[in-house]
Amino acid sequence: MSFLDRLANADREHPRFVYVMAFVGALNGLLFGFDTGVIAGALPYIQESFTLSTFLQEVVTVSVLVGAMIGAATGGRLADRFGRRRLTLVGAVIFFVAALGLATSPSVEWLIGWRIVLGVAVGIASLIGPLYISETAPEDIRGTLGFLQQLMIVVGILVAYIVNALFAPSLLGVIGWRWMLGFAAVPAVILGVTMFFLPESPRWLVEHDRRDEARDVLSRIRNEADFESEIERMEEISERESQGSWRDVLEPWIRPALTVGVALAVLQQVTGINTVLYYAPTILQNIGLGSAASLFGTIGIGIVNVALTIVAVYYADRIGRRPLLLVSVGGMTVMLGALGLGFYLPGLSGVVGYFTLGSMILYVAFFALGLGPVFWLLTSEIFPLRVRGTAEGITTFFNWSANLIVSLTFLSLIERFGQTVSFWALGVFGVLGFVYIYFRVPETMGRSLEDIEDDLRSNAIMGSDAESSD
Ligand code: BGC
Repeated sequence: MSFLDRLANADREHPRFVYVMAFVGALNGLLFGFDTGVIAGALPYIQESFTLSTFLQEVVTVSVLVGAMIGAATGGRLADRFGRRRLTLVGAVIFFVAALGLATSPSVEWLIGWRIVLGVAVGIASLIGPLYISETAPEDIRGTLGFLQQLMIVVGILVAYIVNALFAPSLLGVIGWRWMLGFAAVPAVILGVTMFFLPESPRWLVEHDRRDEARDVLSRIRNEADFESEIERMEEISERESQGSWRDVLEPWIRPALTVGVALAVLQQVTGINTVLYYAPTILQNIGLGSAASLFGTIGIGIVNVALTIVAVYYADRIGRRPLLLVSVGGMTVMLGALGLGFYLPGLSGVVGYFTLGSMILYVAFFALGLGPVFWLLTSEIFPLRVRGTAEGITTFFNWSANLIVSLTFLSLIERFGQTVSFWALGVFGVLGFVYIYFRVPETMGRSLEDIEDDLRSNAIMGSDAESSD
């Protein structure tokens, strides 16, 4: 398909219902973003309530990541067995119960326990949102709709910053953290109720021999012209082999996709997005802004993250996933270099401070443009139907594990080697990632999930841009 054809296709009309399904699927992202973003602002008040040591503060912060690892490791397989919709409903219930549990925690032990439970829901949401969206979306807008997950993640983070700012005023502060954490019950209810009324993914239905239901769903989300051929392709793929198990994910023909998924999962974290987001308020204070101004500055960075993700949504099905990834990782790497330099030069409160701030904002912008959304999209596109959830669960597990490792080690790295070396070290991963993406990551734009699966089977997953690995 030529570039112009793609452009024309990306503007084709589709039934409105498919957008509704994608939007509700992406609410998973909203909860993921909110629940991971809210803790930074809540922690000082939790600390006041329970007088926590630094170690316990860290445990409260990272316990959600541990839960997310559990949710990701188990959720993928459950999604393949019980369905995307049912797992989303289970996730929504866990989100709701955990939000109430957190808001009413009588002690730090309870808080940590609920944060782990919440994490399980976050892990499930992180994989089920992209999966539900990409399996229901028409192929010419699958990137656009798939990027909604990341858009909602960053909107969730932004909402968390705003909720934190609203509940922070001194009078409310000490009890305010309960409202901050409990607020997540609202989107959890919205996710649960709306998903309850939506149908299951047609691809999962075909895979489970519920073809009439699949036809029914597809007839609501496709134009007539696309409908018949698409369902035939799904049936063809599903008839070829039965439901896969854990072990099938490691079959030689699936391995190249798994390698790409895991590599991107790790790359997304080891290039440091969460440390930079975490560091934002400190950098803002270092350049001489007061704490209120830093708070608004942090919200500003959240807005940059949202704005550039919207730009990425626009380009997902127009220029493709690979170019976005390359520009993104290339740009992030240069900005990590600049950030390290900013910390190296003297005078963080003057012009150097603004240079550092600018590098940080551009770094976040480049992440939002590619590595943020593309990882979540690709991991829901590149695996064959019969092990799609399971394999996506594995890559997602690696993403949360890498997130945990970076969170636990980055501060010690800074203490030992200083900020400059630490940010440059993240930049080295950026260089490696750029080379890897260039040679190994396939383009999935404009191809159906079934075509991608055929390519994988015929060992052509790397597409025309790079060589096959096996
Ligand atoms: C990442 C998160 C990150 C968020 C920030 C997501 O794609 O997986 O770790 O916090 O983007 O924008």
